[in-house]
Amino acid sequence: MSTIHLAVMLEETMLALDVQPGGSYVDATLGGATHTEALLKRSEPDGHVYSFDVNPKALLAAAQRLTASGDRWAGIEANFRFLDRELEAAGVMPGSIDGILCDLGFSSDEMADPSTGLSFQLEGPLDMRLGPKSNDDGLTASDIVNTWKPNEIETMIRNFGEEKFASRIVDEIVKARKIARITRTTELASLIKQAVPQSYEQGRIHPATRTFQALRIAVNDELEALKDFMNASHRMLKPGGRLAIISFHSLEDRIVKHAFLTDEWEALTKRPAEASPFEVQANPRARSAKLRVAIKK
Ligand SMILES: C[S@@+](CC[C@H](N)C(=O)[O-])C[C@H]1O[C@@H](n2cnc3c(N)ncnc32)[C@H](O)[C@@H]1O
Repeated sequence: MSTIHLAVMLEETMLALDVQPGGSYVDATLGGATHTEALLKRSEPDGHVYSFDVNPKALLAAAQRLTASGDRWAGIEANFRFLDRELEAAGVMPGSIDGILCDLGFSSDEMADPSTGLSFQLEGPLDMRLGPKSNDDGLTASDIVNTWKPNEIETMIRNFGEEKFASRIVDEIVKARKIARITRTTELASLIKQAVPQSYEQGRIHPATRTFQALRIAVNDELEALKDFMNASHRMLKPGGRLAIISFHSLEDRIVKHAFLTDEWEALTKRPAEASPFEVQANPRARSAKLRVAIKK
């Protein structure tokens, strides 16, 4: 199984983490394993890398790709919000990690996999969990659109999608769900398209983009997971250890920025670093990437 995901800001993150031979590192978001592979290479000959993902498919593919690393690499199927608990269970002491990387969101492999329900362009179940351990209540996007109160759905779409037509979209959802449960990605995408003006965002993005983002954030409890992850990372890092986070939308970047302003961290990036125009041309996904780095005090 090979990955179609192109890692974002690879060189920048390795420099930011100041990866050293023999160090201990955590990749909180394994995905296609390119960042993990770079951490393993730069920490040769005896460094250790622990990689988390909630998606078992990512761990399976990485295990095949990284066999040569032997016991220098460990894959952990768990939510990164429990990073401290999971690392301790693997025998890692709090305060012993040199650097932690988190490249938020989903991978291109997950977006291209219709069974995740992440893409409004691919026919699939309206699920959006990135894996069985994405959340602990089994909540899916379909549960939200079919069972939440209209005002709860509207708040979620407005807050997590920054969607100004949230109210119209909810009206359309409520009309449709009275007839039958909404269960497919393309069904929801066409409902949304009907609800918004034809001139939506001057055609810059598909009308379902913001609503699908909002549902993904809600299903995977992404913003709370990020806060838990930052606390857990602080516990596991050595004083002087580094945390690098790549985010892809302003809701995430705001959380990282504010946490790095507290007494626990010394921010190394006053403004977030961005991908070079050269990288953005090769990988359009890099356009919205923002990298922030801080040292544990
Ligand atoms: C943007 S991709 C990472 C790509 C990776 N850096 C690479 O080099 O290919 C994000 C990955 O993090 C995983 N993920 C998202 N939220 C997670 C969470 N709360 N806990 C663990 N893994 C998560 C996704 O399943 C996905 O595989």
